[in-house]
Amino acid sequence: MSSSSFIMAIDQGTTSSRTCIVNQAGGLVAEARESFKQIFPKPGWVEHDPEDIWHSTQRSMRLALEKAKISGSQIAAIGITNQRETVMVWDRKTGKSVYNAIVWQCRRTQEICEKLKKAKKEKMITAKTGLVLDPYFSASKIQWILKNAPKAMQKARAGQLVAGNVDTYLLWRLTAGTSHKTDVSNASRTMLMNIHTGWWDEELMKLFNVPQGILPEICPSNADFGRTQGLGFMPDGIPITGMIGDQQSALFGQICFEAGESKCTFGTGSFVLLNTGKKIVKSKNKLLSTVAWKLKNEEMTYALEGGAFVCGAAVQWLRDGLGLFQQSADVEKLAKTVEDTQGVEFVPALTGLGAPHWQPEARGLICGLTRGTTKAHIARATLEAMALQNVDVLVTMQKDLGKKIKTLKVDGGAAANDLLMQMQADYLGLNVIRPQNLETTAMGAAFMAGLGAGFWKDVKQLKRIWKTNKEFKVKMQLKARKERMQRWEKALERV
Ligand code: G3P
Repeated sequence: MSSSSFIMAIDQGTTSSRTCIVNQAGGLVAEARESFKQIFPKPGWVEHDPEDIWHSTQRSMRLALEKAKISGSQIAAIGITNQRETVMVWDRKTGKSVYNAIVWQCRRTQEICEKLKKAKKEKMITAKTGLVLDPYFSASKIQWILKNAPKAMQKARAGQLVAGNVDTYLLWRLTAGTSHKTDVSNASRTMLMNIHTGWWDEELMKLFNVPQGILPEICPSNADFGRTQGLGFMPDGIPITGMIGDQQSALFGQICFEAGESKCTFGTGSFVLLNTGKKIVKSKNKLLSTVAWKLKNEEMTYALEGGAFVCGAAVQWLRDGLGLFQQSADVEKLAKTVEDTQGVEFVPALTGLGAPHWQPEARGLICGLTRGTTKAHIARATLEAMALQNVDVLVTMQKDLGKKIKTLKVDGGAAANDLLMQMQADYLGLNVIRPQNLETTAMGAAFMAGLGAGFWKDVKQLKRIWKTNKEFKVKMQLKARKERMQRWEKALERV
């Protein structure tokens, strides 16, 4: 492998498309980000224009090459990680989508899911897919597109259409329509794949009215997915050897390779994933069992997943909704001006409560206000809530797993906040590890592609590349932790 070669990692997220260039030492050489339009046709509906997804991705690829001052021919392999569940259906010949991409956040298929619940299908669906029956996942969204886009079902049955999540769509565009594939981690979020077999499930396809011909081939996450063709700014023939859903990618990028290792990404919401090894751990508490990844010639690795819908979004609300400060990063400074919240409690259920509560109708609450309450107390209560809701998920995971979690690694924008990370360690009673490189989602895809292309030899080599920035050690005593959790639980009961 030439020392002048690099890995390109594409991270196609909900609000922006990013590209990172990574060198052999695992260093981030350049990063470029392009935002694109969010489409909200009706309350609760969220769409993206597939052309926007593609063009913003291409622009970020070109910009990243420019910033890194390298040419496309120096890219040894490409990895793709992506917003999961978001789905589109397009014409096999023209590449034109029959409808906009329906985004994971979109609730338009609530009714389809309710009907299936009434028909008592949820148990079977969860047993096969590890998921809870919710519009979040792709199956009901594909069903909706095929029913509502003109002649879509007829064309799908005639073999004229193909479907896929964002990974599949980007692969199709990068390879000039020559490759229609996905990886197991993305497929496990469609609600059409049986996580025991790693293949599309006929009963589920019938239930959601999805003809099998339109679905991509499911591959290991570091498979040979295809080669670039016709891009112009990059030569033809660059291999795409990594595809993995973004949360699983962060778990891989945090080198959480062993069962019992977990990560939390602090984004708009927070996503906690726990590696459960080769075993599917069935949650008794409505956490999701999902595929983490599958490496070529190896068995599937599974994970438990739980998330809070509102995490960084709570800080944005303090900034934009309440006008408490100018920039999100100011929250730490403000919260540090007080020693505690003086009894103020904030439950940021601004869009309902996610795992393990799953109460979409719940709404946010600030309580314990006195004449002495200032914006600093509210800021501090917000940070505490961001950490406390993760404790709820992690403690539930621990119960489902039947043993203690070994490590929690953190990433995402708010992981840079020292005060929040210390709170996380204290409330959880477990040291929290922050990596030097917080871009772990893109790193996961880079690692995957690099393994697929032989750029890195094995996972042992990846372990040597990964570096800790800081370990936050537990400082809080057990008694204080218990009291804090009790106060939080009381507030939760009031929501
Ligand atoms: O499941 C949805 C998740 O993959 C979206 O992640 O980072 O694009 O908000 P993000």
